[in-house]
Order: sequence, then structure tokens, then C-alpha cells
Amino acid sequence: MAVRVTWYGHAAFLIESDGKRILIDPFLSGNPVAPVKAEEVQADVILITHGHADHVGDAVDIARRTGALVISNYEIASWFQSKGVQNVHPLHIGGGRDFDFGRVKLTPALHGSVLPDGAYGGNPAGLLLYLGKHRIYHAGDTGLFGDMKLIGAEKLDLALLPIGDNFTMGPEDALQAVRLLKPKAVIPMHYNTWDLIRQDPHAWARRARAAVKGLKVIVLEPGSSFELK
Ligand code: NI
Ligand code: MN
Repeated sequence: MAVRVTWYGHAAFLIESDGKRILIDPFLSGNPVAPVKAEEVQADVILITHGHADHVGDAVDIARRTGALVISNYEIASWFQSKGVQNVHPLHIGGGRDFDFGRVKLTPALHGSVLPDGAYGGNPAGLLLYLGKHRIYHAGDTGLFGDMKLIGAEKLDLALLPIGDNFTMGPEDALQAVRLLKPKAVIPMHYNTWDLIRQDPHAWARRARAAVKGLKVIVLEPGSSFELK
């Protein structure tokens, strides 16, 4: 079963697995590099790492239009309900659940999580996805932390890691993250959306390949995809 991972810019990804469309952190309106419009996106499931506007993005509108199941932490899932989105499932950090499309587990992230209207968004999270035989880690917005080593013990096929600096790990710490996580492949994210998080992903890719033997580093353009076979 192949899994297709498409980058929508920033921390937004569409993951297609076994006919299910899993949308992560769909920040599209107001995202200068988004390759698709929020009104055009299809989804069966929406995963939200934390409450910040550049991650919740268009999720309320997309969930209302598509009826997609929204999975996030308890506070954010409740907030979606308060916005009229009834199809939600709350998880919390360290907890996972088997859904019809695969397993989702929330992992720690070092960051904030206030929601766009000022509501409390609980603790920010990363996502561990088990899709068939494939294991994918979306780090969310986070600084470097040593327990990434424990996440890496899951034998990751793919890690999606922020490299933008300022709000999250920068290039240097993202290299350390790769050493702890030891994924087979990595895709950098959360950079070049704005000048504040400007980075050279190709320079980072060269350094990451040199740092971890055999590591596959994929630099996507917004709208392009990588396939896990
Ligand atoms: Ni954030
Ligand atoms: Mn962010």
C-alpha cells in the first residue's frame, strides 16, 4: 500500500492512504505559498497539531463543507465543536487510537497553542501516524527535545520537521532532531512562508545527508508529492 504525501506549504500536508485523504494543519487562506484553495480541498480526516492560526487555518470551513473527522487534543476538539463541527475525536499527548484509516498518536511538542479567537488550546502536539506498514511523524511546531529519541524508537519511515527557526527548531536543531529520530526519510517544513522563517532547504538537505548516513532528504515544492512505497 503506497502512501502519498503532498506538501501544501508551511506545516500543511495531504496524506493519501488506502483511499483516505488525511489533511494536516490546513493553513491555506492567507498562506502566501499555498498551492490550493481552501474551497477546493477534499478531506476525510483533518489532524490539527496545535491551536495557532497558521495550523488551524481553514480547518473549520473545510470540516463543515466535507464532514471530515477532526482529530486533535481535547481542548481543540472541543473548540471545533463550539464552532459547529460535530464530527470530532479528542486525543491527548501520549494517547493514540486506531481509526478506520490507521492509528494516530499525539506526541509532545515544545511550543504554545492558543486558538485564533484567544481560547485555550491545551498543550501543543506532534503526530505519529501508523498507516498500514508506514510510520510517519509530523513534529508540529516544536523546539528540539531529547525524547525525540523515544519517538525514533518507533522506526519512522518519514519525519516531517520544521527548520524555519524563530518559532520552531532552526536548521541546526533540526539536524540534531534527525540524529535522534533516525527516520528513513525526512521532509523539511515550516520555512519560507514569510521572511521571518526564510531558510535554504537544499543547503539543509546537504547537511542532513552528511549528518546521517543513508538518510533520504526530500525537499518538496508546495504542491509536490513524495510517495512511500
Ligand atoms: Ni505555532
Ligand atoms: Mn506555526
